[in-house]
Amino acid sequence: MGVSCLCLILVVTLFFRQSVCQQPNTDGYFVSQFLKDMGVKTSQVHNFSNPVCSWQGVFCSNQENVVKFVASGLGLSGLVSDNTIGKLRNLQSLDLSRNKITGLPSDFWSLGSLKILNLSYNQISGSLSSNIGNFGVLESMDLSFNNFSGNVPESISSLANLQVLKLQHNGFEFVIPRGIINCKSLVSMDFSRNQLNGTLPKGFAAAFPKLISSNLAGNEIHGRSSDLSGMVSVTFLNISSNLFQGSIVDVFRGPLEVIDLSHNQFQGHISQVNFSSSFSWSQLVYLDLSENQLSGAFSENLNKAQNLQYLNIAYNRFSRQKFLQIDNFPKLEYLNLSKTNLVGHIPVEISLLSNLRTLDLSKNHLSSRIPPLSTKRLQTFDVSYNNLTGNIPLSILKKLPRMGKFNFSYNNLTLCATRLSTKTLKSAFIGSLNSCPIAANPSLFKRKSSTHRGLKLALVLAFSLICLLVGLLFFAFGCRRKTRMWAVKQYSYKKEQIISGPFSFQTDSTTWVADVKQATSVPVVIFEKPLLNFTFADLLSATSNFDRGTLLAEGRFGPVYRGFLQGGIHVAVKVLVHGSTMTDHEAARELEYLGRIKHPNLVPLTGYCLAGEQRIAIYDYMENGNLQNLLHDLPLGLQTIEDWSTDTWEEDNNGIQNVGSEGLLTTWRFRYKIALGTARALAFLHHGCSPPIIHIDVKSSSVYLDMNLEPRLSDFGLAKIFGHSIEDEIARGTPGYVPPEFLLPESGSPKGATPYSDVYGFGIVLFELVTGKKPAEDAYEDKETTLVSWVRGLVRKNEGSRAIDPKIRGTGPKSQFVEALKIGYLCTADHPSKRPSMQQVVGLLKDIEPSMN
Ligand SMILES: *[C@@H]1O[C@H](CO)[C@@H](O)[C@H](O)[C@H]1NC(C)=O
Ligand SMILES: *[C@@H]1O[C@H](CO)[C@@H](O)[C@H](O)[C@H]1NC(C)=O
Ligand SMILES: *[C@@H]1O[C@H](CO)[C@@H](O)[C@H](O)[C@H]1NC(C)=O
Ligand SMILES: *[C@@H]1O[C@H](CO)[C@@H](O)[C@H](O)[C@H]1NC(C)=O
Ligand SMILES: *[C@@H]1O[C@H](CO)[C@@H](O)[C@H](O)[C@H]1NC(C)=O
Ligand SMILES: *[C@@H]1O[C@H](CO)[C@@H](O)[C@H](O)[C@H]1NC(C)=O
Ligand SMILES: *[C@@H]1O[C@H](CO)[C@@H](O)[C@H](O)[C@H]1NC(C)=O
Ligand SMILES: *[C@@H]1O[C@H](CO)[C@@H](O)[C@H](O)[C@H]1NC(C)=O
Ligand SMILES: *[C@@H]1O[C@H](CO)[C@@H](O)[C@H](O)[C@H]1NC(C)=O
Ligand SMILES: *[C@@H]1O[C@H](CO)[C@@H](O)[C@H](O)[C@H]1NC(C)=O
Repeated sequence: MGVSCLCLILVVTLFFRQSVCQQPNTDGYFVSQFLKDMGVKTSQVHNFSNPVCSWQGVFCSNQENVVKFVASGLGLSGLVSDNTIGKLRNLQSLDLSRNKITGLPSDFWSLGSLKILNLSYNQISGSLSSNIGNFGVLESMDLSFNNFSGNVPESISSLANLQVLKLQHNGFEFVIPRGIINCKSLVSMDFSRNQLNGTLPKGFAAAFPKLISSNLAGNEIHGRSSDLSGMVSVTFLNISSNLFQGSIVDVFRGPLEVIDLSHNQFQGHISQVNFSSSFSWSQLVYLDLSENQLSGAFSENLNKAQNLQYLNIAYNRFSRQKFLQIDNFPKLEYLNLSKTNLVGHIPVEISLLSNLRTLDLSKNHLSSRIPPLSTKRLQTFDVSYNNLTGNIPLSILKKLPRMGKFNFSYNNLTLCATRLSTKTLKSAFIGSLNSCPIAANPSLFKRKSSTHRGLKLALVLAFSLICLLVGLLFFAFGCRRKTRMWAVKQYSYKKEQIISGPFSFQTDSTTWVADVKQATSVPVVIFEKPLLNFTFADLLSATSNFDRGTLLAEGRFGPVYRGFLQGGIHVAVKVLVHGSTMTDHEAARELEYLGRIKHPNLVPLTGYCLAGEQRIAIYDYMENGNLQNLLHDLPLGLQTIEDWSTDTWEEDNNGIQNVGSEGLLTTWRFRYKIALGTARALAFLHHGCSPPIIHIDVKSSSVYLDMNLEPRLSDFGLAKIFGHSIEDEIARGTPGYVPPEFLLPESGSPKGATPYSDVYGFGIVLFELVTGKKPAEDAYEDKETTLVSWVRGLVRKNEGSRAIDPKIRGTGPKSQFVEALKIGYLCTADHPSKRPSMQQVVGLLKDIEPSMN
């Protein structure tokens, strides 16, 4: 032994000419011996002929005593021998992680000064020596990702200073030792992914006053949630994949932020968890209850957990329940409601979840359509095994190629997707119908069209110009323009006459069918000009066969197209796509009635057409677009000119109208005028018509500006013709405008739409006018997610002035802006009965009228 030792030293000395450096029984010797044993050669960073304290990863207290040694990821492999690192008597910190070490030497346990030990990511097998108890000052022990087996030694009880204990991903067996209770300093423990079994030691939960993170996942531990009650400081708890039973009630105590109870055998009614109890639900960011046997209905309870980012309650035994009130969880990134017995429809508010990455609604009984989603971050989307019908929203279809995983199988969905591979169609759309509807004979109507995004608006503006010019006959250029236009229309009109139906048209979000045989046999009624015998064929011609290029907007009731009827009547054609419960006769009578309602702030109904199932309303064309476009869509300046140049009417693009309304729109006086006009229109509908007409869809895109830049409200009275249940109204409501009573009908308040739901919508429009922000999905301060909650919060704090649109800030006295916000505040009161009537709103607005100077 001695001889071989001497030889070794001799060899080493010979090999490294400078024999003086690593004397036997010095730390330098032990470390170099260790490295060489484990396959490390001398190198610049570990130059064995230089003093040990100069090597990389070696830290000394003085010239020779190593106190810290980091040899992570050096490819060290094999058993560690005696007389190497086990002899570093002053060693306090040792990191040998990410190597291929298979075993520890017997003298390892004499490292009595160790405070930090990291052996993670090695291949150490066998049981952990009970000599571990020698490490009385150890503060952090990481043995994770090794191949330890056998029990965790009872002697762990000696580690009174231990703060971090990581034993995860090993093969530890048997019960967690009672001795752990003595490790009172523990801040974090991780026993996950072992084969620990039995029950937790008695007093486990209350034993660790400083414990923050506790992970027992992936073992075979038996227990009840009461074994976990008494944790005073734990914020992270993971007991996933164990054998816990009984009720989950006792878990919901203390300051927990992350709770993972998934894949256990918890039972009992979910309502046993007192969702209004003292547990601080607003701290909860992660909740996983999936794969248990919980019963009852989940949906109504969880409202207080507004900061949830991860929610998984999949695979339980819940009774039939409606969808969660999803807008209570604006921060959700992961939502898994698979197999939770959901019935009814997916609420449209789900589109407000702009951080959503994963949505799994599979294996439920959800019906009706898939609402639009915020697809910005969406990566995983599963709605398989439901009862969903209708089209898949285009926004989702467009995102699919960039999504990680999606599954629409086993529903009754229709899609129009030509670009997806047949393989994808066969695996992710099992049972869906892939049919792309096209107009009657598209080749006949091919016209130069462009898909520019700004085009829609550009067309509105271009057309408004045309119309202005038409009006001013003395303007010679305008006359020429009009006749040319005429000729084009006349031409296509002739061609269309030979077409017979049924006709099918597709827009971005829907497909509609006019089930008529002869387009020329379906009359169009124009109230003021009864002698003009227009037919559906004229509507086809006016709108280039309802071409997408003529689509102005897609409203709640259906798409709106623009067109010129023969004789230069400029119209907006609104198709009420979603059907109607009225008979043709009733619908005609109702439309005739609406045609008689006139007010300077209402968009007049010009006529209508009943084409098969479709009720088509025809309005005067509004020259200056709608408020939504003007406030939110059009960037400042004249950027749309580029788009115009590709369009047929490029010679008109001098942008007079554009400059006019855009410039004006940045003054408080003008915005006030829009607010007052809209309020007057609503007051007229509510109080001047008998029976009162409830609009139901008050929003900025329903407010148009006519040729004289007077505000005019559109779409009044359509809700009645539409004739749908309140549920559908909610389902189709526009995010940001839906009044709270639609979402959470309280007992005692009248069901369905009332004049006060219109008042709410008006309040939002008023907020938009003052703040210039969109009602939802805009950037608000204070982490708010909707305009209404943001502004209401500010008004409540008397800080309304912070919300004022910087573009109009200087154009009026601050007090008026603040007053207007207060009126909006009243209008958007949560409870309908607390909102003023529209008549009162008109009065309140008039009180703050900007002076005429
Ligand atoms: C180690 O250091 C000595 C001088 O201190 C130097 O001569 C030698 O080249 C170094 N070896 C390596 C491998 O860098
Ligand atoms: C141990 O080392 C690994 C890998 O280098 C590292 O990820 C881990 O955080 C370390 N453990 C502790 C408790 O610092
Ligand atoms: C882990 O240890 C077991 C025996 O305890 C052995 O059969 C297995 O091969 C080891 N695995 C590795 C990767 O060393
Ligand atoms: C716990 O595991 C060990 C070894 O894995 C086994 O011998 C023992 O029977 C198990 N005990 C229980 C209660 O399952
Ligand atoms: C809980 O542990 C399981 C198993 O290791 C893991 O899959 C899951 O992500 C963990 N949960 C949390 C919240 O980290
Ligand atoms: C639920 O919590 C509320 C409020 O803390 C309390 O009044 C009620 O008694 C609790 N119910 C149960 C069953 O614990
Ligand atoms: C949803 O949870 C179930 C049950 O745990 C799981 O099988 C499924 O993979 C999860 N879905 C997603 C998308 O994570
Ligand atoms: C789907 O809807 C149909 C008709 O409403 C109904 O008969 C069927 O049971 C539903 N299927 C599921 C899985 O809910
Ligand atoms: C699927 O939807 C179509 C209409 O989109 C309906 O006619 C048909 O009955 C539905 N089929 C089932 C099985 O619900
Ligand atoms: C979608 O779900 C069905 C039913 O579970 C399955 O057969 C199919 O393979 C899944 N497709 C994809 C792409 O995951």
